[in-house]
Amino acid sequence: TDIPSLYKVLEKDFILGAEVQPIDLQGDSGKLLKQHFNSIVAGNQMKPESIQPMEGVFNWGPADEIANFARENNLYMRGHTLVWHQQVPKWFFQDKQGKDLTPSPESKQLVLERLEIHIRTLMNRYKDVVDAWDVVNEVIDPSTNDGMRHSEWYQLTGTDYIDTAFRVAHEVDPNAALFINDYNTESDPKKRQILYDFVKAETAKGVPISGVGHQMHISISYPSIQSVRDTFNLFADLGVKQEVTELDMSVYNGSNQNYNPAPDNVLIQQGERYKELFDMFRSMKDKLSRITFWGMSDDTTWLSGRNGHTLDYPLPFDSQYQAKPAYWGMVDSSHAW
Ligand code: G3I
Repeated sequence: TDIPSLYKVLEKDFILGAEVQPIDLQGDSGKLLKQHFNSIVAGNQMKPESIQPMEGVFNWGPADEIANFARENNLYMRGHTLVWHQQVPKWFFQDKQGKDLTPSPESKQLVLERLEIHIRTLMNRYKDVVDAWDVVNEVIDPSTNDGMRHSEWYQLTGTDYIDTAFRVAHEVDPNAALFINDYNTESDPKKRQILYDFVKAETAKGVPISGVGHQMHISISYPSIQSVRDTFNLFADLGVKQEVTELDMSVYNGSNQNYNPAPDNVLIQQGERYKELFDMFRSMKDKLSRITFWGMSDDTTWLSGRNGHTLDYPLPFDSQYQAKPAYWGMVDSSHAW
């Protein structure tokens, strides 16, 4: 507890955030959170399936817990996410009898009306505390003919769901920063170009997109720092805000690796890479307003159990809430300036 506060070390350049679940707000993890971060985002509790599991039935409890923590402790808060193709309940795309909607002008209207009600109700409740929303999440798909993800949203509305989401969000809270959020923007030049072209066309049409969110789930060896830098530079000329929204760094660089525990030399290598990454972030500070980690400590990372790795160690604090070399790499980076 006598180590420097990470957000204070970085606050002249960025807001520093962490993804949380209600359980993280208690006890030692709650303390760690308040000491080192000045922004939070709910990992699951503001997603459509959590907020409106059935049409017209709103479930506020878990999201309120997180929002109240931000209110009580004067933290910034990101809202995640108004629209996604995952963790969205089926009823959005079904008729009143539970039958899947098929594309038609009527079903399109119905889906857009439901979307509008969802966004208005959710945003109004958290307007006082959420300063930035992921309005749409992961709508780009470089493998399709038009670069858009062919989700149920898209099949029933084309890209109108995106325009509607931003327009309604802007009406509800003209002061909120409204983000289009996606992954692999730092590593896949084709995908980032599609996103760039899309945002450019949308803003030219007057769709109120105010920011591009880069999730940035990276690994210890990939992609290069230069590739990340290219990403911020590309979007800079659109005049939109940019944030890193879901940062973490897997210690693995291939499949079939499983560390338990992670070897010191790997954690040290991770610390060096976090330092390089934050050195670069600082050099981009005029283009980048907030960096949010997807989690805080390795015990609850979403990466454990994924891609054949039983445990992963991507975050600044270990499972005992001790600062890792990753943490010190970020603190060191601040001293270089
Ligand atoms: O709610 C059910 C529960 O009823 C059930 O008993 C339990 C058993 O597995 O699962 C629970 O659902 C889990 C859900 O989180 C809520 O806790 C899902 O299995 C689990 O897959 C889901 O994972 C979340 C994931 O999004 C869903 O794709 C992760 O916690 C969350 O960190 C992750 O976050 C996403 C961002 O929203 C978007 N970008 C990528 C990022 C990482 O995948």
